[in-house]
Amino acid sequence: MTTSKFSKQEFLSILQSVLGKSGGAPIALHEPNIGELEHELVAKCLNSGWVSSVGEYINEFEQGLANFTKSKHAIAVVNGTAALHLALHTVGVKPDDEVLVPTLSFVATANAVAHCGAIPHFVDSNLETLGLDPVALREHLRATASLRNGVLHNSKTGRKISAVVPMHTFGHPMQIEKLLEVAAEFNLTVVEDAAESIGSFVGMVHTGTFGRCGTLSFNGNKTITTGGGGAILTDDDELAQRIRHLATTAKLPHDYEYIHDAVAFNYRMPNINAALGCAQLNRLGDFLAAKRLLAEKYATAFRDVSSMSFIGEPGGTTSNYWLNTIRLKNPNLAQRDELLVAARESGYLCRPAWNLLHTLPMYEDSPRADLTNAQKLWCSLINIPSSARHYLGQHSAS
Ligand SMILES: Cc1ncc(COP(=O)(O)O)c(C=O)c1O
Repeated sequence: MTTSKFSKQEFLSILQSVLGKSGGAPIALHEPNIGELEHELVAKCLNSGWVSSVGEYINEFEQGLANFTKSKHAIAVVNGTAALHLALHTVGVKPDDEVLVPTLSFVATANAVAHCGAIPHFVDSNLETLGLDPVALREHLRATASLRNGVLHNSKTGRKISAVVPMHTFGHPMQIEKLLEVAAEFNLTVVEDAAESIGSFVGMVHTGTFGRCGTLSFNGNKTITTGGGGAILTDDDELAQRIRHLATTAKLPHDYEYIHDAVAFNYRMPNINAALGCAQLNRLGDFLAAKRLLAEKYATAFRDVSSMSFIGEPGGTTSNYWLNTIRLKNPNLAQRDELLVAARESGYLCRPAWNLLHTLPMYEDSPRADLTNAQKLWCSLINIPSSARHYLGQHSAS
């Protein structure tokens, strides 16, 4: 079956009505918005000479993140992958452990597990939230794992299952409260991959602050950017101190001697990136408002389309709508690709969801649950252009 000419035309005309005509340059999926404040703070940082891993902007950026997310601690690092690696390492994920991760995620979620010497164990997604499905996870663990002396083991591989990494897909919060219940039942540590969800909340609580710790990304394609960057959020004083120490080569304070007390990382965010981050954080409220307005326009435009629907924020949550997404009502890879190609040829840089992680060569032998929903989602999701710039400054301050 191929996409009807009508569906393709309808899709393209919605993109055009919401985003305007793609003129010379194609319309990006998500691009950074760099303004005067960014130029000013980065120039100040350069002039100060404090461009590396010490400086006032790092402290200011971390404090700003902690205030915004209402997390007790925020530790800024070089990128979101490093944040996740360091978080998993510090909470105690060990080589040969298994760590539960959604197969529908960016590759960094599984790579961070592998960087610990551990093995990603792939689990299914919820069709509404697009995130890890806690109910399916509970069933899977009840059927295939057992607790021995409080430690969860995979009955098939015999390996310890030590942690679970939920991810808030495209900014939409997953069912984190239900997941915490499942994690408590099986004694799993929760590390949230909130790389995509700065500005997304469950009720009034920011994503990334539910688990033992959570991580953010400030890659150039995210809602706010530091060029490259990431952060770890936690309310745990001791964990925060340990993370900070391990992020900076585990160097003990001393005027001139190099004393390091652990094998550690050089993951601290440079001050120059943090200067950019301070400016972006200052504008985050405007970005979120503009992105919400864009999502509303899309939701209205796709409301009466018979073959596809716009994915809205799950009930009881506020999404940052990092990447706006539509779903084909009948999952079909050929149709998905036809629409993608047609949009790209017309200058709208749409994108499919990531290839499922359990299908990638380095993870094809990893343990997994039934992944039916993730398969369906993979064949039916299309990300559509989502940059804040389209509606920046157009929202009323109500
Ligand atoms: C779900 C998810 N996890 C982790 C990362 C890694 O972040 P970074 O690119 O900053 O390393 C990203 C994004 O890039 C992501 O989308």
